Amino acid sequence: MHTHVGIVGAGPAGLLLSHLLHLHGISSVVLEARTRDHIEHRVRAGVLEQGTVDILREAGVSARMDAEGKRHEGIELRFDGEPHRIPMTELTGRAITVYGQQEVVKDLVARRLDDGADIRFEVADVRIDGLTGDRPTIRFRHGATEQELSCDVIAGCDGFHGVCRPSVPAGELTVYEREYPFGWLGILAEAKPAIDELIYCLHDEGFALYSMRSDHVSRLYLQVSADEDIAAWPDERIWSELATRFRLAGSDWRPNEGPIFDKGITGMRSFVTEPMQYGRLLLAGDAVHIVPPTGAKGLNLAVNDVWIMARALDAWFNHGDDEPLHHYSRDALRRVWRAQHFSWWMTSMLHRFGDDPYELRLQIAQLNNVVESTAYATALSENYVG
Ligand code: FAD
Ligand code: DHB
Repeated sequence: MHTHVGIVGAGPAGLLLSHLLHLHGISSVVLEARTRDHIEHRVRAGVLEQGTVDILREAGVSARMDAEGKRHEGIELRFDGEPHRIPMTELTGRAITVYGQQEVVKDLVARRLDDGADIRFEVADVRIDGLTGDRPTIRFRHGATEQELSCDVIAGCDGFHGVCRPSVPAGELTVYEREYPFGWLGILAEAKPAIDELIYCLHDEGFALYSMRSDHVSRLYLQVSADEDIAAWPDERIWSELATRFRLAGSDWRPNEGPIFDKGITGMRSFVTEPMQYGRLLLAGDAVHIVPPTGAKGLNLAVNDVWIMARALDAWFNHGDDEPLHHYSRDALRRVWRAQHFSWWMTSMLHRFGDDPYELRLQIAQLNNVVESTAYATALSENYVG
């Protein structure tokens, strides 16, 4: 079995890449370890940058996002019990769209299967080989059968715990990494959002984020310690802590409560591997870089990577030009590092790293700068809307 591009992983990166390649007349096979149902219901990110929305529209996979996604023109920064709106669209002309990552995944899977794509779910024991030759191979098990896929190029879109990045020989890649001493406890609740725009909130007790998925589903996050046990967080404790962190001075305002139907804790790290390619292996998305979620960049970076990769592969396969392919890593890393910086900065400004009161005053001074200076607010907005 041979294909132009063997894609490992059916997350947003792998699925969108497969679709973009199809539009350029380039064949691909997508290999995914989990079931279709699993990837379509994995709750993760929810903020799409303007650039991501534009790419999905241009690629013709935006019908449901356009109908159901919610365009937001600002965010709120809340600290010291006071709300401060950042009018992103007024400052930049651009906006974000709130639309769940699993909805993007559903739309891409549906479209790929409609177009007759070859997506293999529940593959096991994936191994990649021959990366420095011109016919790399992917071996895997599907059901009871052992299979081999020969490719011109392999796209490693298999997330942080995938097999592609670790298949590159030791010493070929440089890793840049930072771990944070906290994580996010995230919930989805059947509760009408009490707000129209997202709130990023710094409180003595730690960070909190108010987001949503629809007019009747709220998405909320709390900073918790990195090794927190979810069992220590019954629903009442979560609502009580959210009310404390989002409290407004002189007001009894609090998030609307409702049944919690999804609850989980995510660790936070910054991570980049360079370069993002080795021989005929090209890496994209979480397989090569991770950001802490505070800037809402993870999904958007994955989309940006594969957009650059698809153009480079189009130049190579359809026009015999290998220049963009050679420069894939260089071109993608510019954006990756900018998002690394933004995510680190937002995380540093909005989380408690310990009990140091001096540090908290510095964070509040920084936040005051952001909300009082148009230059700072514009810089934040430009990075946030993408
Ligand atoms: P993934 O979505 O991870 O997709 C990789 C795919 O590869 C998966 O389907 C996986 O099953 C598959 N795979 C793995 N190994 C193999 C293998 N050996 N063989 C075949 N298939 C394999 N970002 C935000 O901006 N905001 C958030 O709130 C946020 N929350 C997150 C919560 C969690 C729990 C996680 C893990 C990430 C979160 N992110 C968030 C990050 C964002 O979701 C990711 O950046 C995004 O999913 C990256 O897409 P991807 O396609 O590169 O990787
Ligand atoms: C959401 C997640 C984020 O990481 C973020 O910064 C904003 C919103 C969300 O899941 O809605």
